[in-house]
Amino acid sequence: MREPWRLFDHLAPSYDRVLPYFSYFGRELVGFLDPLPGARLLDVGAGTGAAAHAALARGCLVTAVDAALGMVEVLAAELPEATVQLMNAESLSFQDGTFDLVTTGFVLHALDDPDAALSEAHRVLTPRGKIGVSLPAPAPAGSRWRRFDEIIAEFAPDDSHLGGGGPRIDVPALLRAAGFRDVTCREAVIRIPADSPETVWKWLMSQGFAGFYLSLDAGTAAELQRAVMAELEFLKEPDGIILERAAILHKASA
Ligand SMILES: C[S@@+](CC[C@H](N)C(=O)[O-])C[C@H]1O[C@@H](n2cnc3c(N)ncnc32)[C@H](O)[C@@H]1O
Repeated sequence: MREPWRLFDHLAPSYDRVLPYFSYFGRELVGFLDPLPGARLLDVGAGTGAAAHAALARGCLVTAVDAALGMVEVLAAELPEATVQLMNAESLSFQDGTFDLVTTGFVLHALDDPDAALSEAHRVLTPRGKIGVSLPAPAPAGSRWRRFDEIIAEFAPDDSHLGGGGPRIDVPALLRAAGFRDVTCREAVIRIPADSPETVWKWLMSQGFAGFYLSLDAGTAAELQRAVMAELEFLKEPDGIILERAAILHKASA
């Protein structure tokens, strides 16, 4: 079995600490759902709590689950107000209709069985519940970062979420198949200042990209790093570099 969360056990200490990328999109996703204080929210594949933090700040009652023990340890230490559990998204141990909201940010593309995870999310929501799902997206049209995506795509042609041409998950179709309706989406874009190309590389290696990089043979990995660093030098401006990344946020009713 693939157990994609194993990588995140190792990444947990540095995850979202180099640049506040995931926390930004966590706030965007929770903002898109616009929860009322007191809403019971389940964050699935919570990582270090990007959406869970944002939901707590809005007064939600938060449960955060992840399959990586390293992530769960960080969550439990940093979110004492939340209920934190080690759990597989594809088989949740909650009763039907337990939550008003489910969030799952940057998780579906990492799962073996995203359909099972969405069916489980639907099952644990109340009939009037809502889900919020985010996934990484290519840099916005016209962005200088489009070339950066193309470079990574040259090394990962089969993985659309690393910029390549592989199959992109059709989240609206998966949501409908799992029983959700009224699916809406919007793009969210982050522009974060980073002091140097080295910081952006460190940021890449603090997240799922590291799994791809480490899967390459040494020669190809070195070539990828050289190509990425050269492009980051090109993107550098006099006072640093503005990392520009996009995500697609989806929401739907149970
Ligand atoms: C890219 S991270 C996203 C974390 C967080 N949602 C965020 O927005 O920062 C993907 C997360 O999914 C978790 N994960 C992967 N497979 C999982 C599974 N089958 N069940 C639960 N969590 C899983 C990983 O451990 C990791 O924390």
